[in-house]
Amino acid sequence: MSDMRIDVVTIFPEYLEPLNVSLVGKARARGQLDVHLHDLRSWTTDIHRTVDDTPYGGGPGMVMKPEPWGAALDAVLAAGPEGEVPTLVVPTPSGRRFTQDLAQDLAARPWLAFAPARYEGIDRRVIEEAATRMPVVEASIGDYVLAGGEVAVLVMVEAIARLLPGVLGNAESHRDDSFAPGAMADLLEGPVYTKPAEWRGREVPEILLSGHHGKIAQWRREQAFARTHANRPDLVARWQRESFTKKEREALSVLGLAWDEAEGRFRSVAEPVEE
Ligand code: ADE
Repeated sequence: MSDMRIDVVTIFPEYLEPLNVSLVGKARARGQLDVHLHDLRSWTTDIHRTVDDTPYGGGPGMVMKPEPWGAALDAVLAAGPEGEVPTLVVPTPSGRRFTQDLAQDLAARPWLAFAPARYEGIDRRVIEEAATRMPVVEASIGDYVLAGGEVAVLVMVEAIARLLPGVLGNAESHRDDSFAPGAMADLLEGPVYTKPAEWRGREVPEILLSGHHGKIAQWRREQAFARTHANRPDLVARWQRESFTKKEREALSVLGLAWDEAEGRFRSVAEPVEE
């Protein structure tokens, strides 16, 4: 038995070719991931194999018709293990944010079905009817609009697959990832270096060559603080005072971040207080 079954229903199965490559491709070849691609048009009944129609109420663009999606989801459900249902993941910019937490949650489920849409989206009744039969998660990979959900499926499957036991060579390699629950929650990973120790006149930070694991870990954490401060003020705003040791708070104050008791968050010392 594979660790996870994934079904994808799409009008562009060839868009998902990258699932044969690299980490996900290897996980499939090893039998850890069981991926099934389905062409939505095989559930159309007209000669033109129509999957879209004009929106009720008017407006630009086209909407995906409910009948082919309904039939496709029926078939996916019937093809899986008896008595089990998949979690249906619908990529859409209107969904909840796809985060590392959501990737972890989905990685713990044995069966996922993805329903990427083209055009203006899928007739709402498809999602509502599916939700009476299986868990449904509508998820967005970011605040921008793609031409279709297929690329979002590639993003999500890759993020999920690397969390499955035994898929990454080193089980510890996701512990230090940006956003990993625990010490890295709400924190971006800092810079990394490899050999040679000097390249084009640039040296690797000396501490990394010291062999002093405690000091290296502390340095990495401080680099993570600096990067997060520089790139993601929204994450800094979530930090809690208790998550940091006294020494770490000193490092934060060197970056110009001090705990503001009244606001209940770390604030740039340079930042003006709002009236
Ligand atoms: N489909 C179109 N844009 C998308 C996005 N940002 N996330 C997920 N699915 C999408």
